Amino acid sequence: MQKLVEKIEKLKKERNAIILAHNYQLPEVQDVADYRGDSLELSRMAAKSDAKIIVFCGVHFMAETASILSPDKTVLMPDKNAGCPLANMITAEDLRELKERHPKAAVVGYVNTPAAVKAELDICCTSSNAVNVVLSLKNAEEIIFVPDKYLGDFVSKKTGRRLVLWDGYCPTHVKILPEDIIHSVRLHPHAKVIAHPECTPEVIALADEALSTGKTCAYVRKSDAKEFIIATEVGLVYRLQKDNPGKKFYPASEHAVCPNMKRTTLEKVLWSLEEIKDEVRVSDEIRRKAKKAIDAMLAIP
Ligand code: 13P
Repeated sequence: MQKLVEKIEKLKKERNAIILAHNYQLPEVQDVADYRGDSLELSRMAAKSDAKIIVFCGVHFMAETASILSPDKTVLMPDKNAGCPLANMITAEDLRELKERHPKAAVVGYVNTPAAVKAELDICCTSSNAVNVVLSLKNAEEIIFVPDKYLGDFVSKKTGRRLVLWDGYCPTHVKILPEDIIHSVRLHPHAKVIAHPECTPEVIALADEALSTGKTCAYVRKSDAKEFIIATEVGLVYRLQKDNPGKKFYPASEHAVCPNMKRTTLEKVLWSLEEIKDEVRVSDEIRRKAKKAIDAMLAIP
């Protein structure tokens, strides 16, 4: 493995490339990355980096967002088949029909959507800023929120706004059951429970906090607690443990594994740098419209 890492490091410099890895990536992929982060942190990083090539270790909508923000950079996916089933639960056509039924509604969409759906939004959001995005729409009579119904339910409870929701959900997060939390708490009674807002409302109700992966990292760093039960994709536990060696982390469910996030391997990262293949690109028209919705989100502190 050391040889592979050395080859990647060398080629990365020669090609003026950076490697971005989402917090759910395999441990060895997180370790070779220049930056690890949640969806919002990685979007911001992609926009501000001056590297020529971005190797995006995550899922398709994330690489697409990076390309929308930085069309002059080459955004590569080490495995182009790493999709997001939640993102694919709504199409641009579905959203246009929903908008026709609610013509006065402001339209908020999770970053976990294809670019063509983002092009139909007024504003994008991630799990890290969804509450603030909805709060920013003070004058909206009605708000559509797509596609994650559980994130939408969480945001609706936090903001007191009724939202028009879509029937989407993350197949990995719904594998975490309330019984898993109850069982973990019995085993680790002093641990704080942190759930991702893509979890079901029943799981979130049992958690101390519902936070994005990036906010979970920040919360754990500052917390006086020594043990944490983590209700999200298991990849985050590796990062938390590495960054906080004095604290203990327990995944709420070993079943919460996103098969798409695990498609990216070190070998594929190397091949992508060697061959500069599988570039993610968005057509100009869609890109311009989608960028407006992403820029509106990035303008929110
Ligand atoms: P974060 O933005 O919290 O990293 O979540 C991304 C995601 O796709 C969760 O499934």
